[in-house]
Amino acid sequence: MFPFLFVFLTSLMSKNCAVSCPCERSDLCHQIRDERNFEVFVFDVGGKTWKSYNWSMVTTVATFGKYDPELMCHAHSKGARVVLKGDVHLTDIVDQYNRTRWITEKVNLAKIQFMDGINIDIEQAVEKGSPEYFALTDLVKETTETFHREIPGSQVSFDVAWSPKCIDKRCYDYVSIADSCDLLFVMSYDEQSQILGDCIAMANAPVNQTLNAYQQYLNLKIAPKKLVMGVPWYGYDYPCLNLTQDDICSIAKVPFRGAPCSDAAGKQRSYSWIMKQVNDSLTGRLWDSEQLAPYFNYEDPNGQIHQVWYDDAESVCQKTDFIKSKGLRGVGMWNGNILNYSDDPVAKQQTTIMWNALFGCDLA
Ligand SMILES: *[C@@H]1O[C@H](CO)[C@@H](O)[C@H](O)[C@H]1NC(C)=O
Ligand SMILES: *[C@@H]1O[C@H](CO)[C@@H](O)[C@H](O)[C@H]1NC(C)=O
Ligand SMILES: *[C@@H]1O[C@H](CO)[C@@H](O)[C@H](O)[C@H]1NC(C)=O
Ligand SMILES: *[C@@H]1O[C@H](CO)[C@@H](O)[C@H](O)[C@H]1NC(C)=O
Ligand SMILES: *[C@@H]1O[C@H](CO)[C@@H](O)[C@H](O)[C@H]1NC(C)=O
Ligand SMILES: *[C@@H]1O[C@H](CO)[C@@H](O)[C@H](O)[C@H]1NC(C)=O
Repeated sequence: MFPFLFVFLTSLMSKNCAVSCPCERSDLCHQIRDERNFEVFVFDVGGKTWKSYNWSMVTTVATFGKYDPELMCHAHSKGARVVLKGDVHLTDIVDQYNRTRWITEKVNLAKIQFMDGINIDIEQAVEKGSPEYFALTDLVKETTETFHREIPGSQVSFDVAWSPKCIDKRCYDYVSIADSCDLLFVMSYDEQSQILGDCIAMANAPVNQTLNAYQQYLNLKIAPKKLVMGVPWYGYDYPCLNLTQDDICSIAKVPFRGAPCSDAAGKQRSYSWIMKQVNDSLTGRLWDSEQLAPYFNYEDPNGQIHQVWYDDAESVCQKTDFIKSKGLRGVGMWNGNILNYSDDPVAKQQTTIMWNALFGCDLA
């Protein structure tokens, strides 16, 4: 593109003048300002299944797919926020000029798309005390200041691993980051990304391990109102090298960030895939009473045995019960699109139960 044209377009965009509202009513382009006391934070990865979300619950949608103006208009009509995805290579934003440029770009993009904030999703390894460590903290602080100033009422959230203890070598300054933004989305899943014991298939998010890790965040004196609990609407499908009599499935050694094996030996499967596969399994749904999670074994067309670990309403609600008891900010899931939203009555019922399980076991 001609440089002058580029400069012209960016200045046009940042003044936010040539952009017209895509919604049927212009007031639907107004950013959401109200604070809701309970967050239901949905990651949307694209497509149109958002039309089937339970919109009476949803408060924020983080759009990780292509921008969909129809989704923005609909969310606003329900009083829900729509936020951008923010991801950047940390080595690039150690430099203050680059960091400011990134933030300016994002806030301008949010404005021209009538969006209500940003979800910062940096899942990179960071060493404590490194230039990237400080730059990340500054990035969150400066992004929050800029968004709050430029889009009043906007929300800045930051995604953290299931535990603050340098999981996946993400040794961030969790306390300062929590102080500097509106909320932390705790990704309470992929908890087998660094398997240090036996290389065997285990639950994506065992109940006790998950809840103990919230206690670790709270012990850092991070306010409960800063924490949104993220639950998985997916599981892991592991090919077993060997399956013992008592259902122990050995998995291939795939190292990750210093650990000899990891969940990368398996494949992520959506809840809708799992609900179909469990019916064609060797075992049907089994329940592990230590990890408090469902699983099953199946044989694929090549004769390979697999073990699938996942979450359903029964395992999810035992985690979400903790939200009320500890006064956390809310709940969310990765991701909203992967239930079976078809009209089939069985699928519909499963979908309703999964949404309700976000509010604990009384509703599940
Ligand atoms: C949606 O959630 C509300 C609770 O916020 C619940 O009362 C309602 O039954 C749910 N709708 C469906 C279709 O499940
Ligand atoms: C600034 O960011 C660009 C990528 O956008 C990168 O190529 C460049 O090296 C960065 N500059 C500095 C000084 O970090
Ligand atoms: C599979 O497990 C059984 C029971 O633990 C063991 O005896 C056998 O050696 C294992 N086979 C392989 C190939 O690891
Ligand atoms: C969703 O459910 C319908 C009806 O049970 C089924 O035909 C379809 O294959 C399911 N889709 C997925 C992705 O599981
Ligand atoms: C799976 O089995 C259950 C219980 O037998 C049944 O209700 C359901 O329709 C089946 N689902 C699919 C996708 O076949
Ligand atoms: C989970 O933790 C609680 C308290 O920390 C303990 O009483 C319980 O036995 C544990 N359950 C399992 C299945 O490990």
